[in-house]
Amino acid sequence: MSNTPATEAPRRRTFAIISHPDAGKTTLTEHLLLAGGSIRAAGQVRARGENRRTRSDWMKIEKERGISVSSSVMTFEHDGKVFNLLDTPGHEDFSEDTYRTLTAADAAIMVLDAAKGIEPQTLKLFEVCRLRDIPIITFINKMDREAEDSLALLDEVASKLQLDPSPLYWPAGSGNRFRGMLELKTGLFYPFTRRESGSEYDQGHEAPAPLDQAVTKGWLDQGELDELRDTAELLEGGFKAFEVESFLEGHMTPVIFGSALRHYGVNQLLQAIGDFAPAPKTVAASKAGTDTAVDPTDKEVTGFVFKVQANMDPNHRDRIAMLKLTSGKFQRGMKLKVQNTGKQLSVNAPIMFFASDRELAEDAFGGDVIGIPNHGVLRVGDSLSESGTVRFQGLPNFAPEILQRVRVKDPLKAKHLKKALESLAEEGVTQLFRPSIGSDFIVGAVGQLQFEVMADRLANEYGLDVIFEPSPYAEARWLGGDAAKIEDFAGKHRSAMGTDIDEFPVFLGKSAWEIGYVAERYPDVKFLRTKERG
Ligand code: G4P
Repeated sequence: MSNTPATEAPRRRTFAIISHPDAGKTTLTEHLLLAGGSIRAAGQVRARGENRRTRSDWMKIEKERGISVSSSVMTFEHDGKVFNLLDTPGHEDFSEDTYRTLTAADAAIMVLDAAKGIEPQTLKLFEVCRLRDIPIITFINKMDREAEDSLALLDEVASKLQLDPSPLYWPAGSGNRFRGMLELKTGLFYPFTRRESGSEYDQGHEAPAPLDQAVTKGWLDQGELDELRDTAELLEGGFKAFEVESFLEGHMTPVIFGSALRHYGVNQLLQAIGDFAPAPKTVAASKAGTDTAVDPTDKEVTGFVFKVQANMDPNHRDRIAMLKLTSGKFQRGMKLKVQNTGKQLSVNAPIMFFASDRELAEDAFGGDVIGIPNHGVLRVGDSLSESGTVRFQGLPNFAPEILQRVRVKDPLKAKHLKKALESLAEEGVTQLFRPSIGSDFIVGAVGQLQFEVMADRLANEYGLDVIFEPSPYAEARWLGGDAAKIEDFAGKHRSAMGTDIDEFPVFLGKSAWEIGYVAERYPDVKFLRTKERG
């Protein structure tokens, strides 16, 4: 059977996991892969991460701090569907990277720690999903530990996120008294079998049976059964029944309870992703300057770069651009053109991120992500297509929260520094500003940790010993509006002007107050916190 965009794209489920650090994202990722049959034993995702880390020194930082800095994609096939799990870094310093990754996701799994509910980072990431109308499935994790009251957790989802929670299952107890959960639609009870930690979870838990058999099977005592029945009745009045439409529109979230670590509820979650998460959607774009919509089943191969990852091998300066395909049937060796530069590239060695290992992709479809190794031709936000005329809306850059001046200890290496900084900025992890006056470089980042990672990479990958110093500037804003007005403003504020890596004009303010002050005096100039490359 030949595979075509019309048969393949609808099978794709491309999603990301959003959570606060420690809620269990890594554990859940691993157990989703286990449930999908693409790894055989728990511990492999982490183990693979460890291997990768030993290969690259700068990753030591992430190891020491126990956070995940880099992100990648894991693809696996299960039950007739192709799942693309986009891994996002959890630490808040890397939120810009996470935001961009979410632009490539068609759905998100929101993982909550059952004892903590909605935490600050969950909320931030949720807001990005809402902005982009990404439908969300909620997984309430760590039910094997003492949890908050389940009703209170759902109330929190409703009040803090203005999202209708619709439980698909209801748990019986938590912690030592966690017995399992009831599937509300079918009345089946899924028992939770506690095993010693470290044992194999592949066999899963006992098969479900109708709730009225739960006592005879020894899963629940009579009191627990009565309580679960009563609560289930209450739920009918308290929460709206699950409606796919409402979920896809971003108004409703189906809720599943479980324990990622104990491989409980994970199969049900995977099932829900397969059943409810959307296949890749039609995307608004322009073609040769005219507005159009790109449908995943269209013949022309199109896509956009949402992330550029440095090759972890310091001996190669290659970078891997992550391309989210939006339409067509991509085949290895195909030629694609970059819309804004007109450059053509032959994609001879695309990488598909199969969970088990990296493999060369022979073909890929709308919804899939492929990695394209290149020497800096591809940038975050680039649109690629066969004709080279399709353009997707750019991915935003966010104004950095910290600005620092960077200097290289050996002045003879200043030229090298420029190249290295540009190269790192092109990956989209940090931003680079060049003030109009003087020869300094100003680096912008969302968090302090990025400077540490950067210093480490400059030393290890480029042999540059650098010092970061406080910058005279505190805030950067891109200028927008009428070109003549911008020029006039820039002429009068030359000492506070600079350019970014794309030569866009940037105002470098000493404080937020100063930005407000000039913005008031120059109402025709826009001081922008985000920039979209065109
Ligand atoms: P993250 O990626 O969201 O930051 O979380 P991660 O999966 O690393 O999980 C954070 C901690 O929570 C880990 O424990 C993990 O084992 C634990 N955890 C995850 N899911 C569950 C669950 O369902 N039940 C219980 N009881 N614990 C869970 P750790 O001690 O910090 O790490 P480790 O030494 O176990 O690796």
